[in-house]
Amino acid sequence: MTATNPPVRAFPDGFVWGSATSSYQIEGSVDVDGRSPSIWDVFSHTPGRVVGGDTGDVAVEHYQRYRDDVALMSELGLRGYRFSIAWSRVLPGGTGAVNEAGLDFYSRLVDELLAHNVDPLVTLYHWDLPQVLEEKGGWLNRDVAGYFAEYAAAVAGRLGDRVTTFTTHNEPWCAAYLGYATGVHAPGHTNNAESLAVAHHLNLAHGEAVGALRDTLPATGQVSITLNLQNVRPVSDSAADVAAAAHVERLSNDIFLDPILRGHYPEELIRETSHITDWSFVHDGDLEQISRPIDILGVNYYSPALVAAPTDDLRTRAAAGGEWINDPQSGDRPSLWPGTDLAYALPQEGPYTAMGWRVEADSLRELLERVHADYPGIPLIVTENGAAYDDQVGSDGVVHDDDRIAYFDGHIGAILDAVTAGVPVTGYFAWSLLDNFEWAWGYSKRFGIVHVDFDTQQRTPKDSAHWYSKVIAANGLSS
Ligand code: FCB
Repeated sequence: MTATNPPVRAFPDGFVWGSATSSYQIEGSVDVDGRSPSIWDVFSHTPGRVVGGDTGDVAVEHYQRYRDDVALMSELGLRGYRFSIAWSRVLPGGTGAVNEAGLDFYSRLVDELLAHNVDPLVTLYHWDLPQVLEEKGGWLNRDVAGYFAEYAAAVAGRLGDRVTTFTTHNEPWCAAYLGYATGVHAPGHTNNAESLAVAHHLNLAHGEAVGALRDTLPATGQVSITLNLQNVRPVSDSAADVAAAAHVERLSNDIFLDPILRGHYPEELIRETSHITDWSFVHDGDLEQISRPIDILGVNYYSPALVAAPTDDLRTRAAAGGEWINDPQSGDRPSLWPGTDLAYALPQEGPYTAMGWRVEADSLRELLERVHADYPGIPLIVTENGAAYDDQVGSDGVVHDDDRIAYFDGHIGAILDAVTAGVPVTGYFAWSLLDNFEWAWGYSKRFGIVHVDFDTQQRTPKDSAHWYSKVIAANGLSS
């Protein structure tokens, strides 16, 4: 008898398999080659903001070890690598003079990736606003949108000959709501009205950057944005719960999707939030900028959201400690949706990851199908998906992370189901290549497919990395 390979649930040819990281989470070297501080340097150094007082000062020393990290990607067979650029390395003043030494690092990284046949995908903003701009009002200052376009042009001018895909923002939802409403991310404000103004200024910055990228990139350049779209479900089919879920959908997803892809904000959203803001931050001409055409939409997905209409019981529980207002992205940190008087996000049943996030792969299929149905015509790419678990290093020195493999297997299968149903998904990026600085959780949550010993900086691929290598080599899952 001859051995045969098990049948494969294959993806379309050309599907891009990669992994993702972000600058502040991995680079370290925060004060070299002219980099100025970002809001995350200041935030992480503020007592009480990050678990264990952790900071990104050292992170996983990627700035120094990038060659080894690219070699590792190559050994694992990754075809794509999504990373972000630290604005404050490129424009230490936030605006104005370009720091060539900062850009040089990313240029070397891009060359190294290409030499290893790994396609680089650049994200311009993964939350590390230069602190000098925070001092000018941060994202509350609409001029920052113009500075962002200036920064986008500088990066595209230097890397655009080798990088084909540029993403403006990563998850503006987090930057707006976690940064300005719940305060669990930098800059740590807690003001619902501000969070809506910031969401608009992030959208405006996206649009202005799209313009700058189009002016700078060759015609083949691909421009995108990555959103952490929520698959929002009502807890019951009562009219009130359904309306609450629709409200959260508008606040989470449509506030970005509609202006970018349809050129307007949802009327209901403006009405529903009129007790918070009059939306006067939207100026004539803004929506034309924001809705400049993009080529591809990045979707980050981790977990579904469960939503209920307010009841006296929920209000009481929320007032008593916020246990009923968890949101899917911030685990057990209490979170406030602007307008929580209209909807509450409920805790959900397990299984959970170490973040406390419910694991439900088919919800990703549901989300992709719905986004495609509502916004047809734009290809999708899953730019982040993955799971933190309480990894244990075995006696053999390796993390045997079957739970993470199961998570990836389920979610990649769900994407294939969506592709089979006709949704144009062009790639998948596992979050994350390396264990790293997980924002307010510091180094306490490990999302990597590669284990990092934070004392020695030694990298050791987990079982999930080897499993993922096989998926890439087979261009699909074994059934
Ligand atoms: C996403 C972020 C990413 C990482 C994962 C776990 O919201 O984009 O940086 O923190 O969650």
